[in-house]
Amino acid sequence: MDEPQPPLDELSVAVDPLEQFTLWFDDALKARVRQPDAMILSTVGIDGSPRSRAVLMRGFDERGFVWHTNRLSAKGRELAYEPRAALVWHWRELNRQVRSTGLVTQLSDAESDEYWHSRPRVSQIGAWASPQSAVLEGGRAELDARLAQIEARFANTDAIPRPSDWGGYRLAPFMIELWQGREARLHDRLRYRTDPAQGWVIERLAP
Ligand SMILES: Cc1cc2nc3c(=O)[nH]c(=O)nc-3n(C[C@H](O)[C@H](O)[C@H](O)COP(=O)(O)O)c2cc1C
Repeated sequence: MDEPQPPLDELSVAVDPLEQFTLWFDDALKARVRQPDAMILSTVGIDGSPRSRAVLMRGFDERGFVWHTNRLSAKGRELAYEPRAALVWHWRELNRQVRSTGLVTQLSDAESDEYWHSRPRVSQIGAWASPQSAVLEGGRAELDARLAQIEARFANTDAIPRPSDWGGYRLAPFMIELWQGREARLHDRLRYRTDPAQGWVIERLAP
């Protein structure tokens, strides 16, 4: 059941938006929100048009939000072209939305390796087998054939190495907006934005 939330107040939220995000993420975990770590990532295509898709947040801290993917995928190529991107989380059960825009950088090889080796073997095999975002001219059969090939290649390998083009990204936010629905009333929106002189500035936006 959806839980009514206390009003969102600019005087009681954390001064640092990542701290506030941590509180909200904890709330989402406690409320058993389904897939609270699912976020919509929007990138800018080379033709200037926006592209969105879901990815899983695999960590966050004061530096920003992390996910992992194939760096030769459409999103990987788009990020190489334009590193500014946007993220959205929707926690329906809490009637909350968080938006963030920021600058994306690649994680180090060591960080990408650490996550890669924590993944189940089937996911590692899948990552090797799938040329993410490419057109499969041979249909599903092509993918199945690739999978069989990769399974054979690594049949005697315990620790499957990380493909060189697979790894993590981090979005360092320069804007985070908290949105909270209010029952039968105007909703609350608080935006944090970085200001060169003042650091994080909190502003209330009209819903
Ligand atoms: C809930 C959910 C989580 C996903 N998580 C990831 C992820 O962490 N990494 C990833 O590469 N794709 C993930 N995907 C698949 C992407 O949405 C997308 O299909 C894929 O990355 C290719 O996107 P692109 O062609 O725009 O690069 C996820 C899909 C869903 C529905």
